[in-house]
Amino acid sequence: MKLYVYGTGCGAGELIDSVLPVERVTAFVDGLGRGGSFLGRPVISPETLAKCDYDLVIVTSGQTEEIAARCAALGIDPDKLLFLKNHLICTDRNRSYERAESLLGSDFVKRLRSSQRLIRRPDWLGEERLPPEALDNDYVRVKTLEALCRRLDSVPGAAAELGVFRGGFARCINALLPDRTLYLFDSFEGFDEREAEGSGRGFVEAHRDTAAERVLCALPHPDRAVIRQGFFPDSAAGLEERFALVSLDVDLEESSYQGLCWFLPRLSAGGYLLLHDWQNPKLPGVRAALDRWERERGKVSAVPVCDVNGTLIICG
Ligand SMILES: C[S@@+](CC[C@H](N)C(=O)[O-])C[C@H]1O[C@@H](n2cnc3c(N)ncnc32)[C@H](O)[C@@H]1O
Repeated sequence: MKLYVYGTGCGAGELIDSVLPVERVTAFVDGLGRGGSFLGRPVISPETLAKCDYDLVIVTSGQTEEIAARCAALGIDPDKLLFLKNHLICTDRNRSYERAESLLGSDFVKRLRSSQRLIRRPDWLGEERLPPEALDNDYVRVKTLEALCRRLDSVPGAAAELGVFRGGFARCINALLPDRTLYLFDSFEGFDEREAEGSGRGFVEAHRDTAAERVLCALPHPDRAVIRQGFFPDSAAGLEERFALVSLDVDLEESSYQGLCWFLPRLSAGGYLLLHDWQNPKLPGVRAALDRWERERGKVSAVPVCDVNGTLIICG
């Protein structure tokens, strides 16, 4: 089998150290045409590769798009390219893994791919509890939640979400913290009309289409969930509880502010409150709510997350 590795940098070095014995490599390919050798194997240019007989070219460089375009221009068969650095562009460029699996075996390809995840997953994180489809939502948001939940072992308190809608994120919390009570606060009939005045009709209307029973059906551990239906903060009346993890996701200023006022004093030391949409340009009220809270009571200790809508993690 003629196996080529495109790249002579750290990616190629790591591939050889971790999964691919260098003896299996016919040659390395260097886009800058440096020539010479790498790890005892010849280094050739992409132009030379195009003239060779090759079964598979494993691309270890992060310049995925440039390399794809250059190979296309040289007439290199795209079906014989296997891109490894897909995690850098957050999308998998490979149309299929079938060829690689038939040449290298599925276990080998599995090992090859697992080292190239967007966020690598160390063994100490324990068994995977997230349903795979949860990652289609907002990968960084969900993986951040997973990492935070794994730090809560010695932190007392329940979990909660204020602003549940159809339970997409609640489902992840429930899957990751199966032993904790999960309070779900929502009107389950959309926003308070007065508060939502001035928001787009589509936005308001779309959030009406949910129901508490529908959310419960979507949870992996519905027995741990406690529905608090109604408008917050009235829906919290009489509840005596402390929290290890809170997701605050109500989009608008007054409800976000009320959420901060109620939950932050009840957040356990070592716990986290995830303020969703803190950096969302479409929902400036969320940031305004925290600004107001901080003006009145002082700065929170917090870490911004680069997920799609800019969550802020507030530390208890
Ligand atoms: C963006 S959605 C929540 C999305 C959900 N966290 C997720 O990630 O799947 C916002 C929700 O907040 C709810 N909401 C907003 N203000 C509220 C309030 N004061 N009391 C109860 N629910 C409220 C709305 O009904 C809506 O379902």
